Amino acid sequence: MSTSIRAHKGIRPTLGDRVYVDPQSAVIGDVQMGDDCSVWPFAVIRGDMHRIRIGSRVSIQDNSTLHITHAGPFQPDGWPLTIGSDVTIGHNVCLHGCSIGNEVLIGIGSTVLDGAVVEDQVVIGAGTLVPPGKVLESGYMYMGAPAKQIRPLKEKEKNFFKYTAGNYVKLKDEYIANSDYSS
Ligand SMILES: CC(C)(COP(=O)(O)OP(=O)(O)OC[C@H]1O[C@@H](n2cnc3c(N)ncnc32)[C@H](O)[C@@H]1OP(=O)(O)O)[C@@H](O)C(=O)NCCC(=O)NCCS
Repeated sequence: MSTSIRAHKGIRPTLGDRVYVDPQSAVIGDVQMGDDCSVWPFAVIRGDMHRIRIGSRVSIQDNSTLHITHAGPFQPDGWPLTIGSDVTIGHNVCLHGCSIGNEVLIGIGSTVLDGAVVEDQVVIGAGTLVPPGKVLESGYMYMGAPAKQIRPLKEKEKNFFKYTAGNYVKLKDEYIANSDYSS
């Protein structure tokens, strides 16, 4: 078992089938992940003060940080982090206490803050900042800091979500087959 996957206060991450967790990543505490997910080098998923729930076929790419906000005097319920299925999280993304739907592409270097809701089938362009509490509507592309709705997605772009998620499933299967570590 990899030291990348660690308990916090007795709660250990639970992973679905065929999940790849790179030995240089960290998955800590109250984290649940579905089948066929992948966690790439230097990604951090830190469920130490609230829960993190991730669906199936989600890739969390290099250097991305997934965290939550704890429940306390300034935020009574805190903000958990929830991610659906077939979500591609590019390199250097920060997802913090937000809710991400199914079939979402989060472009390289983007940040999504507490209470933001990204509905199903959304493209977030590279380098986007999604402010606290903002709702990104299903079927649209967003870009910019702060994020602005750019245009409706084309059919081809809607088909891309499952393609790119599946591509990362294949890639992590290669890593599992060719390395001496898998979860
Ligand atoms: C948003 C994106 C999908 C392109 O959408 P598009 O509609 O094809 O956009 P275009 O390339 O035609 O560019 C349209 C305009 O948006 C600008 N633009 C493109 N991407 C942008 C971005 N991420 N942020 C801000 N502006 C952007 C272009 O410069 C162009 O501006 P102009 O009209 O003034 O010249 C793409 O640029 C992007 O950011 N993809 C994410 C890639 C990624 O991170 N993948 C994860 C890899 S694992």
